[in-house]
Amino acid sequence: MSVGRLAGRRVVLGVCGGIAAYKAVEVCRRLVDAGAHVVPVLTDDALRFVGAVTFSAVASEKAQTSLWAEADPIPHTRLGRSADAVVVAPATARLLGAYAAGISDDLLTATLLATRAPVLVCPAMHTEMWEHAAVQDNVALLRARGVAVLDPEVGRLAGGDRGAGRLPEPAAVVAAVEALLAPKDLAGRKVLVTAGGTREPLDPVRFIGNRSSGKQGHALAEEAVKRGALVTLVTASALTASFSVDVVRVETAAEMEEAVLTRADRQDVIVMAAAVADFRPKVAAEQKLSKADGVPDIVLEPTTDILAALGQRRRPGQVLVGFAAETGDLVGRGEAKLAAKGADLIVANDVSAPGAGFDHDTNAAVIVGNDGFQREVPMASKRDVAAAVFDEIARLLTGRRPRA
Ligand code: CTP
Repeated sequence: MSVGRLAGRRVVLGVCGGIAAYKAVEVCRRLVDAGAHVVPVLTDDALRFVGAVTFSAVASEKAQTSLWAEADPIPHTRLGRSADAVVVAPATARLLGAYAAGISDDLLTATLLATRAPVLVCPAMHTEMWEHAAVQDNVALLRARGVAVLDPEVGRLAGGDRGAGRLPEPAAVVAAVEALLAPKDLAGRKVLVTAGGTREPLDPVRFIGNRSSGKQGHALAEEAVKRGALVTLVTASALTASFSVDVVRVETAAEMEEAVLTRADRQDVIVMAAAVADFRPKVAAEQKLSKADGVPDIVLEPTTDILAALGQRRRPGQVLVGFAAETGDLVGRGEAKLAAKGADLIVANDVSAPGAGFDHDTNAAVIVGNDGFQREVPMASKRDVAAAVFDEIARLLTGRRPRA
């Protein structure tokens, strides 16, 4: 832990009722030692395990315990607005469920809903509870919304039990807070990401599509937001995006082309993660095609290669990134696409690998650069793949040399 890394940062430390609440006292002290201004918020159940006085003694401000205790009628909005980060350690199953469902029934849940600051939750509970589908679903939902989750460790639990569900040591919690508040290497940069598979209409009810879910593109947009970028997401997917992303919904390759090309000149970075149709029906029937009219002759025509068009007209310093869905020779095919499209990086992913590619939550890829750069990203969540891609983009933007 680098002392002072949190200097001047305001952290709301939420503490729920679990045996690990005693460790939160140490988390609080270490956050203060790292320079943070810490305001503890304790739930009623937390007070069964630890006293507010203990937290008040080690924190930067008196511990808060209720929506109604202070003269301030809206402590949650004040806390939420002024926080640079909200950290919940330990986070119980109840807290995770309430937060995921948008229920505010105490000061901590109200603060979580009122804040726009990054949030870290550190679940801790018995193994059976942690592994319950309801808890796992809530955690997945929170992650998908951009909430950072510090997974519990395997170890000793309350009552002498052992298993997964133990709150990591205070140093690990503080390291996760530091990561949450890490410098934003895309601060102020304009980033445009495309996502999803386009749909090319045959008639008013049918289309030619592909298997892309948009998950990787949406993860890229969220990652760029986390790093401080101003993000536009041109998406053909129905997935949602967090409130700070400027979402442009499109359906066809032509709509995506228009949405991207009209915004391209303003962007510092463009990442074409969408699976854009290479061909579309030359004519889309105005009326639904009927069986009675026999088998239709469908004539296709090529769409514009948006990435290649961007490669031809981009301004100096703009970083252009493409994706390549491959089933083998990732590096060779990625390099061929780099040259063909004039991109800086191609993220070649092996869509044939188990767990990778279309509609999975995980992906595996090789990132190739036009300077001979190669980075293998082993099977990881699409969020982690997104982080790896933006590590390399940030490197190109700042002119840093690749890692050895
Ligand atoms: N792309 C694009 N416009 C298109 C088609 C693709 O911008 N009309 C972009 C995709 O967003 C992606 C990259 O180009 O970044 C993929 O290149 P592509 O040559 O289409 O590769 P594959 O989809 O893998 O298809 P193929 O190997 O058959 O060429």
